[in-house]
Amino acid sequence: MEELLKKANSIAEILRREDDILIVTHIDADGITSGAIAYRALERAGKEADIRFVKSLDDEAIEDIADENRFVWFTDLGSGQISSIERSGIRCVISDHHNPERITDNQINPHIFGHDGSYELSGSTTTYLVARFLGLNFDLSGIAIVGAVGDLQDSNYGRLVGLNRFVLKEAENSGYIETIRDIRFFGKQTRPVFKMLEYTFDPYLPGISGSERGAIDFLVSLGVRVKDNEQWLRWIDLTAEEKRKITSEIVRMLISRRYPFKLIWRIVGESYLLKEEEPGTEVKDAMEFSTLLNATARYGEEMIGLKVCLGDRDEAFRRAKALLQNHRRNLSDGIKLVDEIGIVELENVQYFHAGNRILDTIIGIVAGMSYSFANRGKPIIAFAENDDGIKVSARATKALVEKGVHLAQALKIAAEKVGGKGGGHSIAAGATIPKGSEDEFLKILDKLIGEQVLK
Ligand code: C5P
Ligand code: C5P
Ligand code: C5P
Ligand code: ZN
Repeated sequence: MEELLKKANSIAEILRREDDILIVTHIDADGITSGAIAYRALERAGKEADIRFVKSLDDEAIEDIADENRFVWFTDLGSGQISSIERSGIRCVISDHHNPERITDNQINPHIFGHDGSYELSGSTTTYLVARFLGLNFDLSGIAIVGAVGDLQDSNYGRLVGLNRFVLKEAENSGYIETIRDIRFFGKQTRPVFKMLEYTFDPYLPGISGSERGAIDFLVSLGVRVKDNEQWLRWIDLTAEEKRKITSEIVRMLISRRYPFKLIWRIVGESYLLKEEEPGTEVKDAMEFSTLLNATARYGEEMIGLKVCLGDRDEAFRRAKALLQNHRRNLSDGIKLVDEIGIVELENVQYFHAGNRILDTIIGIVAGMSYSFANRGKPIIAFAENDDGIKVSARATKALVEKGVHLAQALKIAAEKVGGKGGGHSIAAGATIPKGSEDEFLKILDKLIGEQVLK
């Protein structure tokens, strides 16, 4: 930890020497929060700063950035593209948590200090470490936690672990985050309880997930209030007794269906509330806040998400909420489609091909969600078409990673063999490959994953 903080300080020192800085970040919740933290911290330090979002840091994007001839702060990306960045001549610092190509002086990345960036530190919490050396930026710890939760870094244990806890403690001590024990479903603050349950796919709730009727019947059968004075009740409106009833019935139901114990106990865990936000809004709970951000950036509306992170609770917030409706529908339709087309099992991996029926920017989320009904013994590989070719998203489980699976390494090799590019984390990775190369890619990947597990 000490070494990492020293590095954060030295990155802050480099930034302090520059006057005009271009922030380049990723188009997801972790990327937006990382960018917002960097932007605010630089602004407070009296710097000229602009922010640019990229879907992926490919050679074309790097060239465009190099053409601007500015000092760059890469957040939530960059570590996997060190060579390309160096070749382009861009002067920069990097705060990232993706698998680094190699160690460099201008880069802060948990992997370099022996910590796993897939769950111990996110782009946002890494960037926050730099921000805290740039000035008095404790208030940015709140959105740093939103970014970590947006990357599902709390999902393995039902709570944040590792270095993220250092940031969490700072956020609690400075009064920006309150941690409570609660059910870990999306929508506790804002959605009618039946909607929250209907849209829960992790874990898949038999008879309830994807079924409005099923969710309402479930609540009524438990004698839990669904409405009060014509108002649909949200999770936060229920009594402790009602919440306990629902939670224990879900646990009982999953046990009777022989769900893995690991999946069941994760249902209850920590929730992170932003203390300064209004209860019952989309920005109160870190899980919902991160979904709201994904709903903007993954649809090309990242500036809206950025504004919400920077405090807009007016026009940008309204537009983000509208986008959220669309995002939720897409996720729900996506998961239904996977259920319909089915997941094909190979020896060591399983896959589905969504063609153009799932957006390439949310195919990864859908792949992760489909673990709720897919075989947890193999990584899930998902394909979606985009303008550049085929977008691949891969997701594994913690248990698979413990057995040796490293998706980023495998996808990088397999993608390069078919003329594409890939990277990411051990538990979640992505790639772009040429159209028509899916079968060849799968064959290589299936073999590589088999070898990883054997080692
Ligand atoms: O690009 P980035 O680092 O933000 O993406 C991380 C990805 O890893 C996210 O899609 C996140 O949901 C996924 N992840 C996961 N399971 C975990 C940790 C991360 O699927 N336990
Ligand atoms: O791509 P990655 O796997 O990070 O996606 C994680 C994101 O998926 C979360 O931040 C959240 O926005 C979204 N999600 C959701 N509803 C679920 C599960 C995930 O909105 N039931
Ligand atoms: O796009 P998706 O959510 O599946 O990405 C999973 C992880 O893989 C993310 O951390 C993303 O940044 C990374 N990735 C990558 N190179 C790609 C595609 C995705 O490093 N070409
Ligand atoms: Zn990230």
